[in-house]
Amino acid sequence: MPIPVDQFKHVMRHWASGVTVVTMQTDARKHGLTVSSFLSVSLEPPLVLISIGEELTSEALLKESAAFVVNFLRDDQSELSDRFAGRLGAVDRLEGVPTQPSTSGAPILQDCLAWLECRVVQTQAAGDHVLYVGEVMAAGVNRPAKPLLYWNADYRKLE
Ligand SMILES: Cc1cc2nc3c(=O)[nH]c(=O)nc-3n(C[C@H](O)[C@H](O)[C@H](O)COP(=O)(O)O)c2cc1C
Repeated sequence: MPIPVDQFKHVMRHWASGVTVVTMQTDARKHGLTVSSFLSVSLEPPLVLISIGEELTSEALLKESAAFVVNFLRDDQSELSDRFAGRLGAVDRLEGVPTQPSTSGAPILQDCLAWLECRVVQTQAAGDHVLYVGEVMAAGVNRPAKPLLYWNADYRKLE
């Protein structure tokens, strides 16, 4: 038997991660969500992975767009993280956020720490999430800064 979900959550709180905003564009709309389940999986070719809740609007949009941008957040961007996590209500999350379009049209957040533009090369259902493997087609560092971290259910900064 697997462990109960509460025990899983309790232990996973002790794992630290960075915070990203993953954006995408379909014919109908641009959108984005906050994602911490992100990792680098291969160097040649350069591949990354994100894990997205199967019920989310963003998951349907990712399926359609087949491309996304991973925007790494700076340590002073926790409000942006809350906004893209839907914690600030039913706002257009991208309204008023300075962006530039990537090749796929998915927005690059101009003030983020760094970004990766990816095309989806593989998907895999995994429990209540879907894993998206992206091949990195373009990338950049906007300006050196410290990353936003998430640990023990809250935002953290490097000392
Ligand atoms: C710090 C943080 C990290 C998150 N990481 C993920 C993640 O890795 N995968 C995911 O599916 N949702 C994650 N979420 C939740 C989504 O950002 C949230 O459910 C969002 O509202 C989904 O947007 P949508 O419903 O418009 O698709 C995270 C939220 C926060 C605050």
